[in-house]
Order: sequence, then C-alpha cells, then structure tokens
Amino acid sequence: MTAPYEGPPKGGPHVRSERETVAHESARGHVTGDALYTDDLLSRYPELLHAWPVLAPHAHATLETLDLAPALAEPGVIATLSASDVPGEGDSGANRHDEPLFPTEILFFNQPVAWVLATSLDAARNGAARVTATYSPLPAVLTIEQAIEADSYLTGPLRISDGNMTALADSAVRVDGELSIGGQEHFYLETQSAIAWLDETGGVALHSSTQHPAETQEIVARVLGVPKHRVTVECVRMGGAFGGKEVQANAWAAVAALGAWKTRRPVRVRLTRALDMALTGKRHPYLARYSAGLATDGRLQALRLELFSDGGWSLDLSEPIMWRSLFHCDNAYRIPAVDVTGRVCRTHKTSQTAFRGFGGPQAMLVIEDVLSRAAQRLSIPGDVVRERNFYRDGDTTHYGQRVDEAARMTTIWTQLKATSELDRRRAAIDRFNAEHPHRKRGLAMTPVKFGISFTATFFNQGGALVLVYRDGSVQVNHGGTEMGQGLFTKVQQIALESLGVTRERIRMMPTRTDKVPNTSATAASAGTDLNGAAVADACAQIRSRLLPVAASLLGCDEAAVVFADNVVSANGRTASFAAVCEAAYRQRIPLFAHGYYRTPDIHFDLAAGRGRPFHYFVYGAAVSEVEVDGFTGDYRLVRSDLLEDAGQSIAPIVDRGQIEGGFIQGVGWLTIEELLWDARGKVATAGASTYKLPSWSELPEIFNVALLERPPQPNVVFGSKAVGEPPLMLAISVREAIREAIAAFRPGAEVTLDSPATPERVFFAIRHVRAGAEEAEIAGTISRRDR
Ligand code: MTE
Ligand code: HPA
Ligand code: MOS
Repeated sequence: MTAPYEGPPKGGPHVRSERETVAHESARGHVTGDALYTDDLLSRYPELLHAWPVLAPHAHATLETLDLAPALAEPGVIATLSASDVPGEGDSGANRHDEPLFPTEILFFNQPVAWVLATSLDAARNGAARVTATYSPLPAVLTIEQAIEADSYLTGPLRISDGNMTALADSAVRVDGELSIGGQEHFYLETQSAIAWLDETGGVALHSSTQHPAETQEIVARVLGVPKHRVTVECVRMGGAFGGKEVQANAWAAVAALGAWKTRRPVRVRLTRALDMALTGKRHPYLARYSAGLATDGRLQALRLELFSDGGWSLDLSEPIMWRSLFHCDNAYRIPAVDVTGRVCRTHKTSQTAFRGFGGPQAMLVIEDVLSRAAQRLSIPGDVVRERNFYRDGDTTHYGQRVDEAARMTTIWTQLKATSELDRRRAAIDRFNAEHPHRKRGLAMTPVKFGISFTATFFNQGGALVLVYRDGSVQVNHGGTEMGQGLFTKVQQIALESLGVTRERIRMMPTRTDKVPNTSATAASAGTDLNGAAVADACAQIRSRLLPVAASLLGCDEAAVVFADNVVSANGRTASFAAVCEAAYRQRIPLFAHGYYRTPDIHFDLAAGRGRPFHYFVYGAAVSEVEVDGFTGDYRLVRSDLLEDAGQSIAPIVDRGQIEGGFIQGVGWLTIEELLWDARGKVATAGASTYKLPSWSELPEIFNVALLERPPQPNVVFGSKAVGEPPLMLAISVREAIREAIAAFRPGAEVTLDSPATPERVFFAIRHVRAGAEEAEIAGTISRRDR
C-alpha cells in the first residue's frame, strides 16, 4: 500500500480543464438502452426459470399449515422452494441472522413464506396463487408509539453524552417538543433482481443488483452451505440503489441461488414494482423528543434528545443507522452539552434500511427544527441564529472528534449569502408578504456538515486489480459498484491520469467477487475515496515498474520521463505507451497489480461513545425560497441556491448531477413523499399512483448549483471529497422556508411542523397559526396521522 494519493502525477491546468468535460461513462448507454442491467441478461440463460413468492396476508401471525403441492399442478411450474430445500442455513439476515427465508412466524404483511419456480412469470404467479396456507393471526405493532408502549425494540438504547447537562435547566430559552419524521421509498428505477446458475466447474454464479457483492456472496454461500470460493457474484451496474441494495439485495439472490441449486437450471428473481414496494425496507420513520436550551442570542447551550426509529421486522442496518443519527444531531453546530439516545423500535412492517444519508438526515432535521423554532421565538433571522452556532476550527464534537476545516463552513456560508442575494431577497419577500394576505413567501438558509467514513471502522478499505496488456490497453477492476452515481467515471479518470493514457484505453470491468475479494459495500459516499485510492495505488505500482523500462528506451534519467496521452516522452524523444508495455513484458516485468487502501487515523469506541469515526467532513449550504397558498396549503419552490464543497472534483459534471439529484431526492422526502401503511399493516403506497415522487414540476423554478472553488482535501484521492449523500440534506432549506412562509400568516408566530410538510400538513399549520389554540388540536391530530 502506498501513501494516499494527493494528486495526479502530472496535474495542472491541462488536466483540470479536461476534467471539466468528463461525462458519465455510461451516459450514452443509459439513453440508448445499450447499458445493460442485471435483468437485461436473462435471455442469455436458456432453460431459465422465473420465481414468484407465496405471500402471507397478515402483519403478525403463526403459519399453521402450508401445502405447496397444488402449485405443481399449474402448467409450467417446475418446482417449489421451502425450508426442506435449504442445504445450509435458511436465513438471509446479514448481521443478526434474523431473516428466515421460510418463516413459520409471520413478521410483516406480505412476508414471503415459500417460492414457486416456473418456465414463465405468469405460471409461477398462478402456481403461487394455488398454494394453500393457514394462519393464526397475532396482535401487530404498527407504529413507533405502539412499539414504545409495548416495549418492543430491536436494540438497547445507544447513547452519546458530553458536557454538563445542568446547562439545560440554566438556559434562558427552552425549546421543547416532539418531531415526527416520515420514511421514504427508494424507488430506484431498477427493482431488486438477481439471476443465478450453476457454472461449468460446480460453482454457483450470480448476476445481482447489489451494492455489496461480497456480502451477497456470503449470504448465498451460507444458505447453500458451501465455502465462499464456490460462489461468484457479479454486478454489472444498478439502475439506482440509494442504500436500498446495501443489504436488501441479498435475500433475492439467495432465493435465485437456492432455486438454481435445486433445479440445476438458471433462476431469475426480479421483483415487480408492487412487490418491491411491499416487501423491501425504506428510510426509517423517526420520532424525536427533544429539549434544547439556548441563550437569548440564539446560541445553543444544551440538547437532550431521544430518538426512536421504526426498524420494522428485522435488525438489518438499523443499529449503524441510529449511530449515524447520534453522530449528526449536531449538524454544523457546537453544542456545549449533549445527551442523545437512540432506540430502534421493532414493528411488524417492512425492515427499514440504508437510504442516502443513513440516519444523518433525520437527526439533522431535529436540530434544524430546534433552531428554526428558536429563531422565530427570538425574532432573529434563522441564518443569523445558525451562523452564531457554527463550529470553529479546533472545536470538538459531542463524540470527541476535532472539527478540522470548520472554516470551510463559514467560507461557504458567506459566499452563498452573497451569490443568493439573501438580504436583498429577504426585504423583497417582506414586501411581498405585506401585500398578499393569502399567499406568503418564505426564505431559509441551512448548512450541512456530514461525516465521511463507515462508522464501523473495518469497512473503510478498498481493493483493486489493474491489468495492463502488451498493447497498452488496460482493464480496471475494483471493489465498488456502479449505481448511476458515477463511481466508474471517476475511477476511470483516476486510472487514465495515473497511467498517462487516454480514456478509451481504460476498460472498466463489472464488479466481481473473483477479481477483488472481501470488499465493502459501495456506501457511506466513500466509493471513490476507497476504491479510487486502491486503483491509484495499483496504477502507481505499474508506473513505477514501467519507469526504468521507459528510461532505457528513451535513453534518459527516470526523473525526466513523462507519461501522457498514450505517449512516454523525455527530452524531445518519445515512445508509445504500448511499446513500453511490450518492452516490459519481454523483460519479464509484471504488467498487473493489485491495489489497496485503508482510511488512516479513524477509530471509535462504541461503549464510551468517543473517538474519531470520520476521516473528514463534507460541508455545504442551501438557500431556498417558497411560496405558499393559504387556501390550499400548496406551495411552489421559487428558487434554490446550493453551494457544495466537493474538494478538487475528479468529475465536476458528475458531482453536479449528484448535488442536483440528492437535493431533489431530499425535497421529495421532506415535502411530498408520504408512506402510508393501512390498519392491517400493509404498505398502502405500493406504486407510483399512490406514492408521489418529485419530478420536473418539483424542481426549483430558479436552480443555481455551484461547487466551492477547488479546495483540495488533504489525504483523499486526488484531493477530492465524497459527494453522494451530503447534498440530500440541503433540502432541509426547503422545509424551513415553508415554515417561514407559514409563520408569515401571523407575524410573530412560532410554527411547529411534522415531516413531510405535505400541502395537507401545511394547510393545517396555517390554520393553526391563524386561529390559535383551538385549531392546534386538529392540526396536531392530522399531522400525527399515518406516519
Ligand atoms: N446516485 C445515483 N444516481 N444512484 C444511487 O443509487 N446512491 C447514493 C449516492 N448517489 C445513488 C447515488 C448513495 S446512498 C450513496 S452511499 C452513494 O451514491 C454511493 O456511491 P459513492 O460512494 O460512489 O458516492
Ligand atoms: N454508512 C453507510 N452504510 C453503512 C455504514 C455507514 O456508516 N455502516 C455500515 N453500512
Ligand atoms: Mo448509501 S445510504 O450509504 O448506500
């Protein structure tokens, strides 16, 4: 392992301008349809069988009888899968082994109890419909409140405390409350899918739409009772994942593999949209109970916070997600005393999972809720209260990590205030509001500070295998997966700059467990940091082996050799990169290398709640303006200005796409997307007809997105910074702007608002501020409904 790479071998303005125009490596294929996804590959597998689940119609029940035989009478049905078919362990739970593939106790509505395999999807579905099963229903826990009441938890309380909490009672201003935060459906365009077959040497091979091929391999091996070397998992690319395929791809791959194992035929599992929405986990709904103490100038003195997440039927990643919530309840603010606890509720619902931000967004929403309410109560502009609380360089967080480069937050804030014309527009909005009794505008500015690294330290490693052929063409393998975020584009850029070759010389290979083993999930926004650095390491090794060969070909010192654009040159003499590779081969010098990277200087002691869990922080800020209609509660997003620190960006166009997409996904979560479960515990919003997603109409009418001007991040590959998740939380500015607009209906009002801020909730919040206490009851009832 070489030291982390701080820049390309030959950087400078030339490279910089080239990066400006780098498009997503699959952009053309995404548009033409040439970019293939897992389920596009099914026609390559003759004799393929399709799988359909038998679903339990209860949220909580005992399975009394199950008769699969009638399914076999359906024409086209080849086999059924049930517990007796499992050679290994019949469980797909990655951490706790609490996800039986063939359960006898039903733990959520529509839980699969068995699978039917047939020559067509229709036949499998018809076969599943013929299965007879009987159940004894049991009482179900369907909300966080019910879970608290029933003491139904998946974890003990997690806790971080710091500072002297007597500051709370001593504070001049107290902001206390409860905030209910809705979940979110991932709605990746490509639903969960896997194809499994037995290969020519007795191994089990899979294509899987998974963010974590190594873990999918592990679960498949466990279910089949074979060592991992018998199982190979490949992910060509995903049509979106957003955390929803970090662990939740495993079960479907396991079913496909089990089917192939039993029938000796290829088996395909692909969930329909309705099945995917009914069966897979979502962003966790949260309930927050908080007490915050502030000084009269708005400076935070103390925060006591209890978080409850709705984990659903199994543990999944709920525990690290809750840890990330505890780490992010400060957002960008120094709070002298903090006592935060988090508990994952066990409910009879889908098992909630990773989703862009990984528990950070919910906790950051709470502290922004506190500051907005405090600002309204104190009649100080929200942006002023916020900047008064910013960390300064050298401060430490409530978990004991020094906040390096906190000054970047202030730089971003100052710059964005100017470019968004915050002060001028605030005055204009005041005039607008004075003239319009039934329409009000609101403006809010919010910051983001987001910690980069997996909070479980051991995950922070990346691996690569770079193969250079004698003709100077290159294959790059690494442990990361492509889900649309542009990881492969960035890694290709790293490889081509490191080797001094042009783009078409570098072929990015699909992610495979037989190229790089024991990899981490592509998650925590660290895909490029980890895998890009590993590829840079491999390329640096190859380059250093090529250097003496090139020097002797060119008759010069090694120091004089320049690699660029497929040419190796020194003192006016040149040789092609291919010629150097061929010469190296003839001198018996290996032209391939594995690369490795581990993030330095991170650690965390879970028991003590202290350490340095993050390699660095990403900073950003947003200013949003909305206009709310007082008759309907409907609103439009007039303008958003975003400024994000992506360090020295490896692919600025890709990063811009991540910022825009992440922001809009956050706007959806906070304003229009609303998950509903019915009284039986069934997901009531299991399709695009009932679950409203943001689209063109939800884009800000004016949308200004900028990257902070190229401050390189020390100790990260090429000076870049992670960009995948942090922009999602810039959307909090939209929710807080809505709150400001609601408050404008009765100047001086302090507005409380649950999430999402749907037009319905906004309508009742306006009624509340207009009419006062009596209406508050109604608003409270409506806003708490159906989380
Ligand atoms: N962008 C697209 N287009 N599709 C996705 O599925 N996932 C997000 C983010 N951006 C996602 C995305 C999530 S949850 C994470 S953690 C990062 O991408 C993962 O990729 P990275 O580490 O390479 O940034
Ligand atoms: N972020 C995202 N995914 C994860 C993490 C994390 O911190 N830990 C385990 N999986
Ligand atoms: Mo992202 S939620 O870390 O996959």
